[in-house]
Amino acid sequence: MKHFLSLMDFSKEEILDILALAKKIKEDAKAGKHKDYMPKKILGMIFEKSSTRTRVSFEAGIYELGGVGLFLSSNDIQLGRGEPMKDTSRVISRMVDMVMIRTFEQEKLEEFARYSKVPVINGLTDKLHPIQLMADYLTIMEEGLDKDLVVAYIGDGNNMAHSWLNMASKLGFELRIATPKNYQVDKEVLKLALEEAKKSGAKITIGFDPVEAVAGATVVTTDTWISMGQEAEKNMRIKDFRGFIVNEELMKLASKKAIFLHCLPAYRDYEVSEDVLEGAQSRVFEEAENRLHAQKGIMVWLDQRRDK
Ligand code: CP
Ligand code: NVA
Repeated sequence: MKHFLSLMDFSKEEILDILALAKKIKEDAKAGKHKDYMPKKILGMIFEKSSTRTRVSFEAGIYELGGVGLFLSSNDIQLGRGEPMKDTSRVISRMVDMVMIRTFEQEKLEEFARYSKVPVINGLTDKLHPIQLMADYLTIMEEGLDKDLVVAYIGDGNNMAHSWLNMASKLGFELRIATPKNYQVDKEVLKLALEEAKKSGAKITIGFDPVEAVAGATVVTTDTWISMGQEAEKNMRIKDFRGFIVNEELMKLASKKAIFLHCLPAYRDYEVSEDVLEGAQSRVFEEAENRLHAQKGIMVWLDQRRDK
């Protein structure tokens, strides 16, 4: 049985296989053909943090696959009152067929998976957001930008930056990350990505200059400067990230065919300007829609491998 906790647990072939499945499910759905890949299957969806895209993509997705989703906010289940993760996992995984969980520490997710009888999907942790990267890469493929891909990630060295590192190192594309000095990516995540890059041929560069990172890039991307759980640092972060906004001036330095991606929610005039977000190069809403299709691909792929 396979879980979906980190892209580093998958080979390049497996990642592309899931994406191909997502693409097929999307094309069929667009043609009005919803195949019941997961009839009567139940997806438990545990949320310790807020969500719009993750919740709706999984809940609508499992329904369109023939199953049903249970929205389990930690405010409403005993987890929020201190019931241990390992007990929660052993109870819920005896009653449902798959679990998606959004939590804080990656270790909590891993503990849940260790005790689970069913496949577990990482719905975002402080460290990683792998399901988002599947939608992002699907969008890149649809734009025909997956050949000679150069991604510039500007901003916080957070869960999104880490997941870009994982994806680049697995698929072998060029990734340039520019963060402020005090907000660099996790050393261990970087080390593993650089090791993997030696095998895949990925070119990974880490720096502090958005201008340098963006030059000639075919995808420019960023994320919020204040992730969930960091609200108390808001004023400090806004000061520290000055100069890291993706605006028209910066976009002009990218390739002419470059697109702009953002996992959303976006905070205008902090990490991205309104004109870039709403501009001709922005694909953020195609990317958001692809959450639905990518998530279906992941669920079906895991479900097909349950007994393997
Ligand atoms: N991008 C993303 O995961 O959005 P939500 O927090 O709304 O799920
Ligand atoms: N880095 C952001 C991503 C939200 C989808 C956060 O963790 O809040």
